[in-house]
Amino acid sequence: MNQDSVPLLAAARRYQDIDRAVFYMPGHKRGQGIDREFRQLMGEQVFRFDLPELPELEEPLAEAEALAADAYGSDRAWFLTNGSTCGIQAMLLATCREGDKVLIGRNCHKAVIAGLVLNGAIPIYLPTEYLPEFDLDLGVSPATLELYLQKHPDVKAVMLVSPNYFGVCGEIEQLVAVAHAHNIPLLVDAAHGAHLGFHPDLPISALQAGADLVVQSTHKVAGSLTQSSILHLQGDRISPTQVDRALQILKSSSPNLLLLLSLDVARRQMAIAGKQLLTETLKLAKAARSQLNQIPNLENRLLAFSQIEVPTLDLTRLTVMVDRIGITGFQADIWLSSKLDVVAEMPTLSQLVFILSLGNIQSDIDRLVQAFHQLPSSQSQNQKFQFQPIPIPEQILTPRQAYFAKSDRLILKDAIGKISAESLCPYPPGIPILCIGEEITSEVVEMLQCILRSGGLINGASDHTLETIRVVTQ
Ligand SMILES: Cc1ncc(COP(=O)(O)O)c(C=O)c1O
Repeated sequence: MNQDSVPLLAAARRYQDIDRAVFYMPGHKRGQGIDREFRQLMGEQVFRFDLPELPELEEPLAEAEALAADAYGSDRAWFLTNGSTCGIQAMLLATCREGDKVLIGRNCHKAVIAGLVLNGAIPIYLPTEYLPEFDLDLGVSPATLELYLQKHPDVKAVMLVSPNYFGVCGEIEQLVAVAHAHNIPLLVDAAHGAHLGFHPDLPISALQAGADLVVQSTHKVAGSLTQSSILHLQGDRISPTQVDRALQILKSSSPNLLLLLSLDVARRQMAIAGKQLLTETLKLAKAARSQLNQIPNLENRLLAFSQIEVPTLDLTRLTVMVDRIGITGFQADIWLSSKLDVVAEMPTLSQLVFILSLGNIQSDIDRLVQAFHQLPSSQSQNQKFQFQPIPIPEQILTPRQAYFAKSDRLILKDAIGKISAESLCPYPPGIPILCIGEEITSEVVEMLQCILRSGGLINGASDHTLETIRVVTQ
């Protein structure tokens, strides 16, 4: 296919040039009715393309999606304007019904839990490997997947994340092989992997590895606008009709054309110039790693610059351990951003994660390295928090049952033995410690309190102090 063409952009250009009396949505009518200050700030042009799905654009959209499938190596692609969140939920709705069993990597994103509330399936969580020295989740191993597939031959699908937030891709080829040996479809949350497959020095993508359904947040690391993602299907284990049906439920009936256009051009950019652009990004990442590694207290504290073997790492993702500097990742993040305007993607208790992508330039790296040179260290040795993986609590209700059950708030320690009505994911380690529908055990409560005492964050808690927790009451 001609990857240089951008059918959706070309069609949109044609329509915006026509002088029309507009009686369709959106209400601002090509910017004529938009707030003046907003127009001054954004410019005229952007509003002329702020359109819903016009019938004239249907065919060009289908062409643009076909080009994306071709570029990424799938059989079918869907453009999404509600992020990979929508794609994850569609994958689960397309493959599992109420009461079906599904294997889920425990390091899943909260969108997966939401997908389980929607489809009513019974999750069986797969434990992940953990690297204590880097507070790092390494994902599900092929051996674990094999064990669980043998134990649960009746599962309808396996859902894994690859790469994770830290760029760890895991043994994706082996994982695909294990799932397919049992003839079970593998669904992959590749929200952080839209650039994989376009450079030989990057790990192969989940699609290249043979996964059946894969969603990628093109907006996170490739060049499209925030909230735009692509869902891909390959092979014949899942029919495109199932995916279409799921998307009909989940997608907005007014997908924003700006987002769709950005997917069209981001695909062209990756297909035509991806290798060259990623060569630059990898060069910048390598320089950053090597310069940061020379800073006292950071030696061997960068992933892939240590002695530690991490299975298939995306080297454009930079994880810096700040534990030896004597401050937390949260403190380092505040200092770097407030004093020097160097802003990380994500701090955790002991790390800062930086996303490098085709938009970064040399001066960004210079500022990053300089910033770490200036970052004050502290004599007060951080009491290193050691996450001890604890057993996954027992699933008493499915996420859907727990979500719709009556619930109330209880003091955390009084909640032991009750069923959780919320999912809690602490950083570190970025793995849900408690999922909705599971029994709240004393180990969970102790671990949560320990993480909070150490200054960690609990994602998903409705009470951020965690003095209370929502439990099922009926
Ligand atoms: C691993 C993972 N999956 C899914 C998502 C959701 O992606 P999106 O923001 O495109 O909806 C995220 C968002 O950060 C994520 O980190």
